[in-house]
Amino acid sequence: MTRKTALVTGAARGIGAAIAARLAADGWRVIAADRDPAGAAPPGGRFAACDVADEAAVDALIAGIAAEEARLDGLVCNAGIMIRKPLGALSLAEWNAVLATNLTSAFLLARASAPLLRAGRGAVVTIASTRAHMSEPDTEAYAASKGGLVALTHALAISLGPEVRANAISPGWIATKGPAPRSEDHADHPAGRVGEPGDIAALAAWLLGPESGFVTGAEFIADGGMTRKMIYRD
Ligand SMILES: NC(=O)c1ccc[n+]([C@@H]2O[C@H](COP(=O)([O-])OP(=O)(O)OC[C@H]3O[C@@H](n4cnc5c(N)ncnc54)[C@H](O)[C@@H]3O)[C@@H](O)[C@H]2O)c1
Repeated sequence: MTRKTALVTGAARGIGAAIAARLAADGWRVIAADRDPAGAAPPGGRFAACDVADEAAVDALIAGIAAEEARLDGLVCNAGIMIRKPLGALSLAEWNAVLATNLTSAFLLARASAPLLRAGRGAVVTIASTRAHMSEPDTEAYAASKGGLVALTHALAISLGPEVRANAISPGWIATKGPAPRSEDHADHPAGRVGEPGDIAALAAWLLGPESGFVTGAEFIADGGMTRKMIYRD
């Protein structure tokens, strides 16, 4: 395998699918992983069914890449879920499911793929959230998982450097599912619009590529300016 190879998790739809498509268009071989078996690979890549919260499944996924591609140059930890419930109604099982999917998965993926990433002087990109820094009510598990993911990412940058760089992207509102944003939703944003999956894919592609060689341990907020906007009412 001579082509640079990337693994993108949660690639069946949304931001993960856009990252997989962008990397494939840029010439990468992409392994698109998702727990939804209906997922598909971008051109020239392959799809792998995997629950990234499952240690054995992650180890098998990376072993498969070692056997089939024999290299891994980019790891994109994108799979994530949100359970939105009042604190008093959130079960420990639900808390653990969110932490396992959004945070522990990145630990499992980085641990299993570190030898391949080191050998190829590769890069890790994690998809966190502006909710690592700000919250709506009833989102404790999600916010905690994303804050942990930002911290895990800088820890990885220190432990795996200088061979491997690791950076986090924290998206704001990216239109992937649910009702289409209204004109007032776009207007709320200093950038004048809600985000699109391609906005995150472009940043991830840059962070995996050679032009970001001096960038590691960083968090990139891609939110159209929303975390910089003060809202006061008289
Ligand atoms: N869309 C946004 O506004 C937004 C904002 C900030 C952060 N994010 C983060 O970006 C990432 C992608 O978001 P999205 O909007 O594209 O989500 P999405 O729900 O559209 O897609 C998520 C994908 O992850 C997969 N997935 C979920 N759990 C998995 C598991 N255990 N193993 C393997 N795959 C699993 C799903 O099957 C799905 O294909 C998530 O981590 C999310 O938290 C999204």
